[in-house]
Formats: sequence, structure tokens, C-alpha cells
Amino acid sequence: MKEIGSDLEKNIREYLSTLPKPHFSPSVKLSQSKIAGIGLTAKKDIKEGEVLVVELGPIVNRKFIEVVESLTGYECNLCIGWDSYILHAPLHEDHQGGYINHSCEPNVGLLANGIWCAIRDIKKGEEIVCDYGTFETWPGWSMKCGCGSKDCRKLITSKDYKNKKLREKLGEWFAPYLR
Ligand SMILES: C[S@@+](CC[C@H](N)C(=O)[O-])C[C@H]1O[C@@H](n2cnc3c(N)ncnc32)[C@H](O)[C@@H]1O
Ligand SMILES: [Zn+2]
Repeated sequence: MKEIGSDLEKNIREYLSTLPKPHFSPSVKLSQSKIAGIGLTAKKDIKEGEVLVVELGPIVNRKFIEVVESLTGYECNLCIGWDSYILHAPLHEDHQGGYINHSCEPNVGLLANGIWCAIRDIKKGEEIVCDYGTFETWPGWSMKCGCGSKDCRKLITSKDYKNKKLREKLGEWFAPYLR
């Protein structure tokens, strides 16, 4: 039984190593973030509407992510439906999570599933940030926010998509399934 389990883990780890990294526009680069860990930064002035990141990968359900996470700790995904997630490569080999940090004052939004575009002009050196509340509905998920913006919600949750003020402000940039 143990051997079957470890074979499964090995196969899953092999599979995970084949997942594609997101495509980054030449206008952005990974660097140290002032918000959390590593983040994406504008390499030059960016115009509203420019596509900056395309997240690619197989679409899987929550059960799949839970099994993979319990065996390997891996949880790199983007929520695109009530039970649909794009599974993508991690930032670092040993790293969880994705690439774009959250801010309650975001400068990118979802043009379509996995496609992040500038929702306003962005200055060279600014961090590229999205609002996790515009797409994340994983049951019970929440994150303490350290974005430092003046309208920071402090706690970001999987129910933020219902927030009337957020819908008014960013509704057109919500994940398509939440619009
Ligand atoms: C998609 S990853 C972003 C990349 C991350 N900075 C890193 O270096 O791995 C999401 C994780 O970054 C951190 N993070 C992103 N935005 C944050 C924020 N506004 N406040 C606090 N932590 C944040 C949290 O640990 C979150 O789980
Ligand atoms: Zn915040």
C-alpha cells in the first residue's frame, strides 16, 4: 500500500514539473516586493489595456487540488470557476502560490480567464497587483492583507466577490464566472 502511495506521489511530482509557467510581457519582471516576498514590477511605463501576464495550464477541480496538496503540498492555481482552477507552475521550485501579489488598490484585472491586463496606466517601478477578491472563491479561504493602501480591506476572503463596493469599483474586471 505504501509503495502505491509513494508511486502516486512520484508520478504527481513528475506531472507537476511539466506545468507551464505564466507568460510575462516584456514590460514586467519578477523582483522583491514591498507587499510580500517576490512580486511583479513594471520595467517601464505601461498603458491601460496592455496584457501583462497570461496564466496557462490544465483546468482541474478542487478535489484534484486537495489530493495533490495532501501528497505534495503543491497549491499553485488560479480560481476560474466555482470548482475550476488553472493549475500552473510555481514561482520557485520549492515555492507555493502564484506570481501577482494582492492589493486593495489593484492595477491589473482579468480580461478573460488567466489573462491579466493593466486597468490603468502604470508607472515604471510600480508593483503589478491584482485584487484576490475578484476571483478567489475557495470555500473558507482568507488572507490578512498588508497592501498598505488607504482603503485596505485588511482581511481578504472568498466571499469578497459579493462586496457591493468592490463590485461597483472592479466588477468589469472580475473573473468571468463572477461578473
Ligand atoms: C500568488 S502568491 C504571490 C507571490 C508571493 N509574494 C511569493 O513570493 O510567493 C500569494 C501569496 O503572497 C502573499 N501575499 C500576496 N499579497 C499579499 C498581501 N496584500 N498581503 C499579505 N500577503 C500577501 C501571501 O502569502 C499569498 O498567499
Ligand atoms: Zn489591502
